[in-house]
Amino acid sequence: MLRKKATTEDGSHTFYLPEIDEHYHSTHGAIQESTHIFIKAGFNQIKKNDINILEVGFGTGLNALLSMIESDKTQQNINYYGVEKYPLSKEEYSGLNYPELTGFDCTPTFHAMHDRNWGETIKLTSHFKLTKIKADIKDYELTPLPFFDLIYYDAFAPNKQAGMWDKSIFEKIYQHAVSGAILVTYCVQGAVRRNLEQVGFVAERIPGPPGKREMLRVIK
Ligand SMILES: C[S@@+](CC[C@H](N)C(=O)[O-])C[C@H]1O[C@@H](n2cnc3c(N)ncnc32)[C@H](O)[C@@H]1O
Repeated sequence: MLRKKATTEDGSHTFYLPEIDEHYHSTHGAIQESTHIFIKAGFNQIKKNDINILEVGFGTGLNALLSMIESDKTQQNINYYGVEKYPLSKEEYSGLNYPELTGFDCTPTFHAMHDRNWGETIKLTSHFKLTKIKADIKDYELTPLPFFDLIYYDAFAPNKQAGMWDKSIFEKIYQHAVSGAILVTYCVQGAVRRNLEQVGFVAERIPGPPGKREMLRVIK
């Protein structure tokens, strides 16, 4: 699928997929959106010292990068699993401006996140370990992984990729999450919320990032 780099309103990059007319992030601001949904409404709510995170749709690695930077501030240890079916090429990820916009000197680390092998666990900082998994989440078996404390659910919108919001995926994740685990997503569609509730999560709609009234946070 053809991916075109685009710049969002906060100056950070994203990709646009003309074939399905869909962006990887909010056009109001990729970094702004990720910070609001995944870091503030997700990561900052977990008070444990050691946190297992699952990301569905690793994509540009923006959520992993922001989590890594945040873990350095909070001194919490993250074991991050990013599942991705369609990895970016080197040309695509090396042109992304996230490291320079974060205000941290993290370009080599960001590139290492992408360069390193799929399936390999790498320690990127004293608080952040990453394992990228090249797989389709629909048929990927989670059982060899540790139970998750936090899930970043960052798939394309249901009207573009309906199968990614299926109850069977949520069921699999629910069964592999600790009690009290949090799943955050930008998507507040009623059908998605009901699917999450039917597998056992308790859902709440909370204020979304600029340009989006609400987002969804669910708890096991
Ligand atoms: C909305 S984008 C978000 C990506 C990423 N979180 C980011 O911030 O760049 C959705 C991601 O889901 C990935 N994806 C699509 N279908 C998938 C599947 N069946 N299994 C795993 N990942 C998938 C896409 O390739 C894309 O990277």
